[in-house]
Amino acid sequence: MSRPKILIVDDDPGIRFVIREVLEDEGFYVDEASDGEEGVKKVEQTYYDLAVVDLVMPNKDGFAFLREARSICPDLITVVITAYGSQKAAMRAIQEGAYDYFAKPFDNDELRIVIRRVLEKRRLEQKVRLLEEQLQKQETQFGEMIGNSTEMREVFSLIRKVSASDATVLIYGESGTGKDLVASAIHRESPRADKPFIRVNCAAIPETLLESELFGYERGAFTGAYTKKQGKFEAAQHGTIFLDEIGDMSLPLQAKVLRILEQREFERLGSTESIKVDVRIIAATNKDLRNAVKEGKFREDLYFRINVVPIYLPPLRVRKNDIPLLVEHFIRRYNQRLSKTIKGVTRDVMELLMNYPWPGNVRELENVVQRAMIVAQGDFITAECLPSQFMTPPVWSGNLDPKLFNDFTEPLPDKLQRVAEQLEKLLIKEALEKANFRRQKAAELLGISRKSLHNKMVKYKLS
Ligand SMILES: Nc1ncnc2c1ncn2[C@@H]1O[C@H](COP(=O)(O)OP(=O)(O)O)[C@@H](O)[C@H]1O
Ligand SMILES: [Mg+2]
Repeated sequence: MSRPKILIVDDDPGIRFVIREVLEDEGFYVDEASDGEEGVKKVEQTYYDLAVVDLVMPNKDGFAFLREARSICPDLITVVITAYGSQKAAMRAIQEGAYDYFAKPFDNDELRIVIRRVLEKRRLEQKVRLLEEQLQKQETQFGEMIGNSTEMREVFSLIRKVSASDATVLIYGESGTGKDLVASAIHRESPRADKPFIRVNCAAIPETLLESELFGYERGAFTGAYTKKQGKFEAAQHGTIFLDEIGDMSLPLQAKVLRILEQREFERLGSTESIKVDVRIIAATNKDLRNAVKEGKFREDLYFRINVVPIYLPPLRVRKNDIPLLVEHFIRRYNQRLSKTIKGVTRDVMELLMNYPWPGNVRELENVVQRAMIVAQGDFITAECLPSQFMTPPVWSGNLDPKLFNDFTEPLPDKLQRVAEQLEKLLIKEALEKANFRRQKAAELLGISRKSLHNKMVKYKLS
């Protein structure tokens, strides 16, 4: 274990000095703050194992410090210093989450014993938590995939089930929901795990090239074909081929892929010799393939062929309880990659992350965490580390009905009307607060008449 870091928060320099001497003698790393406010700032910057806190201080007393420090770092434990004879205050502090207390004047041995006891207790608690997390991890992690929502657990159990077989799998879901991860997890769990896993992104390769990519060609098959080339289906022999973004494949190519699926053989371009393939097929798409079938953009027969076992990855905004675990996972990952020692996010940040609709899903979350870790100054990711979309007024981040993004039963015009009204109400509230509830001023801020403000306040029951 590294040297425990201890923060002393006390306005009396004499006391700070004494405590520092004792604790440094014990081999601890010690920092000081001269009031609650400075203390809170330090906790935001550095991960301390323990804070020793005076209860009576100017600029945020010990109680305020306790509350704020815990919301930044729930792991922080605190020991409070009370004046002689103020048992009551000490009890209140313990109710507010302090671990222990000692009264002034104290002797050095007493201080030493209290601190050692508290740190030992904390060490044991952390050990228990670690073990619990390890136990839990078996259920919330699958390969590189993280999730404890019922949705993700279902995905994990489906992966387990389909891995054993050779069944064709269609993974569908919005971009960034983890389709690539699922495809490679299925391969890794399957009997083909030690054979190739070949991924082809059907959207990224121009149509004319895609065919030769998939099937390969003989020398001279077309201008520029100077040598013969093996296609991806051949490369995947005995393994798995992952046709990513299959919804973007052209109709003629779809016909050829269908033939492989049905007959398990194909020819290289420029060749008449059939090649037998033993390849498991996994496909993924972020498009609604059934719709594409209806519109004539996707072959119905191919759709039925690949849709043997569908796996749906729901967007992140409908499984928000995966967010804390994912954040922790990405922090661990980028601590390693960036050689950082970030300990977590503040409670404010977690709230912002939980309330954001995540149009780019897990990929976007990963980018946001990574970026925040690069700009973070201290041991915690604070709200300033988040990109601008999180800086919009709380109206957008916090107060919009989350159902807007996952309930598609309401027609768009009605929904927009409802959002407009929600937003109008929030803007009026903001303006009223800014104007210290003087209606004339608020109406001016909003650029509407006093009468119209009055009507709206009645409508939205704001008084
Ligand atoms: N459940 C998850 N746990 C951990 N990381 C995930 C999860 N889902 C997605 N990711 C990460 O998000 C990014 C996008 O995932 P990806 O599989 O490429 O999504 P898609 O193929 O659906 O666009 C990747 O960096 C991936 O590691
Ligand atoms: Mg993908």
